[in-house]
Amino acid sequence: MSTPISGFSKLSKSQKISWLAENYFNDPQAGIAVLEQYWNSDTKLQQLHDEFIENTLTNYYLPLGIAPNFSINDKLYAIPMAIEESSVVAAASNAAKFWLDKGGFKASIISTLKNGQVHLNFYGDAKRLQQFFEQVKPTLLKDCEQITANMRKRGGGIISLELRDKTAELDGYYQLHATFETLDAMGANFINSCLEQFATSLLREASNSDLILEQDRLEVVMSILSNYVPECIVKAEVSCPLDQLAQAGMSGQEFATKFVRAVQIAQTEVRRAVTHNKGIMNGIDAVVLATGNDFRAVEAGVHAYASKNGHYGSLTHAKIEDDNFHFWIEIPLAIGTVGGLTKLHPLVRLCFEMLGNPGAKELMQIMAVAGLAQNFAALRSLTTTGIQKGHMKMHLMNILNQLEATPQEKEAAVEHFKANTVSHAAAVAFLESLRP
Ligand code: MEV
Repeated sequence: MSTPISGFSKLSKSQKISWLAENYFNDPQAGIAVLEQYWNSDTKLQQLHDEFIENTLTNYYLPLGIAPNFSINDKLYAIPMAIEESSVVAAASNAAKFWLDKGGFKASIISTLKNGQVHLNFYGDAKRLQQFFEQVKPTLLKDCEQITANMRKRGGGIISLELRDKTAELDGYYQLHATFETLDAMGANFINSCLEQFATSLLREASNSDLILEQDRLEVVMSILSNYVPECIVKAEVSCPLDQLAQAGMSGQEFATKFVRAVQIAQTEVRRAVTHNKGIMNGIDAVVLATGNDFRAVEAGVHAYASKNGHYGSLTHAKIEDDNFHFWIEIPLAIGTVGGLTKLHPLVRLCFEMLGNPGAKELMQIMAVAGLAQNFAALRSLTTTGIQKGHMKMHLMNILNQLEATPQEKEAAVEHFKANTVSHAAAVAFLESLRP
C-alpha cells in the first residue's frame, strides 16, 4: 500500500515515473518500458504533448482513420475519425458510399448561439433586483468591452444579457443569462471571462446601490458557460425514392418501413434510445476527437438535448412521404476550429487540412453528417442482417492479435471467416488447425 505524496506535480517526469513504478507496478522495469515505448523520438513534439496536461507520463494512442466518399452539400470529403471501436470507420465509409449516388448528405446550420450564466443568490424583493439589473446592465456590458474587442471586430460578441428569476425552482435563485456568438471558436474561455467580469461588476455596482440591501444577501455562487446549447443547432439529412432502398431481399418500401419503425422505437423507449444515440456519437465523437474538440462538452450537450421534451429519445428522425424516404438529425454542437488544440496539435492540424480547413459552421455540418451516417449504418445492419456479422468481422483482427497470429495466419483467417461465423473460440480453433 503506497502512502500519499505531496508536491508530486513539481517532480520531473522521470521522478514521477519512478515513484509510480515503485508504488504501483508489479514489475517496475517492464512498466516503465511500456510507458517509454510510447514516447515520441522527436523531443520537441513530445514536450508539446507533455505540456497539454499536468503529470504527463507518456502518450495514449487511438487509431486515426478516414471515411472517404462523403458528399456533403455536393462537396466531397474524406472524414478523419479517431476511435478505438473496430467497426465504426467501416460503417461510416459504407454509409457514405451508399448515399454517394443518391444525392449525398445535405446539411445546414439552424443557429449558432452559445450561453452561460452567473448563478446568484438573492433573498429580497424580485422587482428591486430587476430594477437594479436594468440600471447596471449597460455598465456590465461596457466592462466587458476589452474582453470582447477582438470577437466584436470579427462580428461576434455578447448577444444578450438578462436577469432570470428561478425562485419557482429554487428559493433565492436568480441568474444572469447571457448569450454569445463566438464564430469559429468554441469560446469557452471567452464566455467564462465575460461571465466572471459580469459577476465582478455586478457585486461592485450592488455595493454602491440603494436598491440592494444587506438583508437581500446578494451573492454570486458561480459563473460558468453552459454546455447545454439548444441555440447552436445543425441539421443533416438524406432522402431518396423508396425504390432505391431495396436490399437484403427486402423491397425499398419494406426496408424503409422497418427502418422508420426502428427510429420510432428509439423515440419511445429509453433503453433503445440510449444505444441508438450511442451509435450516433460513435461517428460524432470520432470527428470531435480528430479535430481536437471537447468531446465531453459535446456528449453532455447532445444527451441533454435528447431529453429536451422531458423524455430521453432518439436524436434522429425518419419518415416516408410521397414514396420518398427521409432521414435526418438535428443536434447541438458547440465546437471550434480555432483555439484549444486546433492549431497546436500537429495531427489535428492535418485533420483540418484533410477537411479543407473548414470554419466552425462547416465542421458542425461534417460532424452531424458523421453521426447520421453512423446511425444509418447501424440501423441498416440491425434491421437486416443483424449487427454481429459486420462487428465480428471487424473485431476478428483484435482477436487474432490477442492470439499473436502471424501475418500468414491472419491472411488465412480473414479468408476462412469470409464464409464462417467469427467468435473467439472459432478463431482459436482455426489457428490451432493451422499450427503444427
Ligand atoms: C455500437 O457501438 C453501436 C450500436 O449499438 C448502435 C445501435 O445499436 O444503433 C450498433
